[in-house]
Amino acid sequence: MSRVNILVTGGAGYIGSHTCKMLHAAGWAPVVYDNLSRGHREFVKWGELIEGDLHDTEKLTAVLKEFKPSAVLHFAALAYVGESVRDPLRYYENNVAGTLSLLSAMNAAGVRNLVFSSTCATYGVPNVPFINEDIPQQPVNPYGQSKWMVEQILRAATANGFRSVALRYFNAAGADPDREIGEWHEPETHLIPLVLAATDAGQPLQVFGGDYPTPDGTCVRDYIHVTDLADAHVKALDWLLTDTRPAFEAFNLGTGNGYSVLEIIQAVEKAVRRPVHRAISERRPGDPPRLVADARRANEILKWQPLHSTLETIVKTAHAWGPPHARQ
Ligand code: UFG
Repeated sequence: MSRVNILVTGGAGYIGSHTCKMLHAAGWAPVVYDNLSRGHREFVKWGELIEGDLHDTEKLTAVLKEFKPSAVLHFAALAYVGESVRDPLRYYENNVAGTLSLLSAMNAAGVRNLVFSSTCATYGVPNVPFINEDIPQQPVNPYGQSKWMVEQILRAATANGFRSVALRYFNAAGADPDREIGEWHEPETHLIPLVLAATDAGQPLQVFGGDYPTPDGTCVRDYIHVTDLADAHVKALDWLLTDTRPAFEAFNLGTGNGYSVLEIIQAVEKAVRRPVHRAISERRPGDPPRLVADARRANEILKWQPLHSTLETIVKTAHAWGPPHARQ
């Protein structure tokens, strides 16, 4: 039987590529649409790569008409909080205007099922210990705002017949257990790869802030394995395609377990059996003290459960993949 196509924007990136691997394993045919500005050609291993930009509505429309995908999984975005504060226009331009271009193309081609990569950054600095989807979203930086704006657009676009799911990721981490793909950002700003680098190259890790109102004074995050995020996309796709009525749903993707920066350092030291050189420095602007998910909605509706997200597995797979300088 021939496979059904799924268009994957940003499929050459970190979460997109892991999702393509899982889509392929589940019997779909991922077709990657990526401008390779931040993604990697080498990560496109489970289907065709079409090099193109989100702003190219004509090209997107032609691709959608040619491949006739049942749905679009939309990962392509800029995703550095700090960069978004320095250059907000670039973020709105890429993440909001780029998505509008994609939606116009989808509407023209009659493809109206979409899974959208959203983020816990849409919640801002929540004052609840466990974040569910119904607390008010008050993003505090242009990156979080750009994702929030797209969610509002998707909600409204139900009137155009769209069915969409926004998956709000907490902290994506870890790597493909088979080591075919993994985390590769340039520059790397994420905690776990930088902690690994601080064991290997002796480059000290800066711990951003030791005076937060948390048990050990460092920020607490909910780390979720990238393979579990990929699995959630396949389940969201199945959910989306079970009905044809216009709809918008948002789901948090996290484990419900929070780990501090110091706990992450300890987990890496244990896995690598080497000390992590670190120094407490100033707080990084815009970092909320604690972001931990209540992901019961995804558990109940999508029947999704994280299976690879113990801290041990996250660190083990990230270590097996290697620190950022292994790829330079
Ligand atoms: N951290 C350090 N030192 C570093 C890097 C990070 O102490 O060198 C700390 C951060 O201050 C934070 C934690 O480690 O407390 C995790 O930081 P990351 O940069 O790995 O991840 P963030 O929580 O900042 O970012 C993630 C996603 C973003 C999303 C954001 C929402 O990567 O896309 O959560 O707050 F917007």
